[in-house]
Amino acid sequence: MPQLSRDMTIAQARRALADSFRLAGLDSPDLDARLLTGHALALDHTGLMRESSRSLGETEAHALSALAARRLNREPVARILGHKEFWGLLLRLNEATLVPRPETETVVEAALAAIDSINQGLDGPRTRALRIADLGTGSGALLVALLHELPNALGIGTDVSREALAAARDNADRLGLLPRAKFMVSDFGAALTGRFDLVVSNPPYIASGDMAALPPEVRLDPSRALDGGADGLDCYRTIAGQAPRLLKPDGHLVVELGIGQEPAVATLFRAAGLTPSPARPDLSGIPRALHVHVATMTP
Ligand SMILES: C[S@@+](CC[C@H](N)C(=O)[O-])C[C@H]1O[C@@H](n2cnc3c(N)ncnc32)[C@H](O)[C@@H]1O
Repeated sequence: MPQLSRDMTIAQARRALADSFRLAGLDSPDLDARLLTGHALALDHTGLMRESSRSLGETEAHALSALAARRLNREPVARILGHKEFWGLLLRLNEATLVPRPETETVVEAALAAIDSINQGLDGPRTRALRIADLGTGSGALLVALLHELPNALGIGTDVSREALAAARDNADRLGLLPRAKFMVSDFGAALTGRFDLVVSNPPYIASGDMAALPPEVRLDPSRALDGGADGLDCYRTIAGQAPRLLKPDGHLVVELGIGQEPAVATLFRAAGLTPSPARPDLSGIPRALHVHVATMTP
């Protein structure tokens, strides 16, 4: 535990936190120390720099020590702060929501690339009045990112968790997107009516037998956001079964993949009559976002 006292400056306290996080083997000790110090002192990045040489007050030292103890107990920073940035948008979290991951932004990139590929004459494809569904929306991450980029699109987010849907609705509201967003309880797309130009999903995809070995930070995510059944593919089976009914004739679907899942998931969608493209890699080069489209009808 870092020893913080009220005669330490903010810069010294931040360094002490970072050193203790490094010693504990945490992945991003400097960033975590900055975010937690800012949170405890209610200072943004600029405020932390400006006030770096002032001494900590006693209450501040206690507050910061308590946050450091939680992080050393492997609670993720996003859970401690109660929010996480995704696609440059701040999303509030609750106990029922997964902490959105940076690699999930690959799904947004792949979905936008699919929309951009639609040849719609003079109008840019991103300004079309698209219909979007996000199956297993959690905090609403994918849906709000897409509605943010597609100004005339309407979207529906589904989830089995009412608490997660409440967080998603709140996020859409704070970002000014609620007039174009709806949220509903549904087994992925089961309760949806009508057809969609774009369906996205980051479903639970960890094999049940691998759940116990997840890092402590990940185990704090709700298990129903992670557990994909015996082989990790149960949710893809459900989504592949629903997709032909959900997609318009020229519709697109993008799903996030777990490591090594591309061949099996592509096979599931092919068996449903859809055509997968090679998966888009994330920043670590891992095939992460599988784009599937409705096969062109042969005469
Ligand atoms: C991996 S999380 C993804 C959350 C969010 N889309 C994201 O990318 O951060 C999977 C989500 O699917 C939801 N979920 C699990 N089973 C579901 C089902 N049968 N129908 C709908 N949603 C489900 C979970 O509650 C969770 O919010």
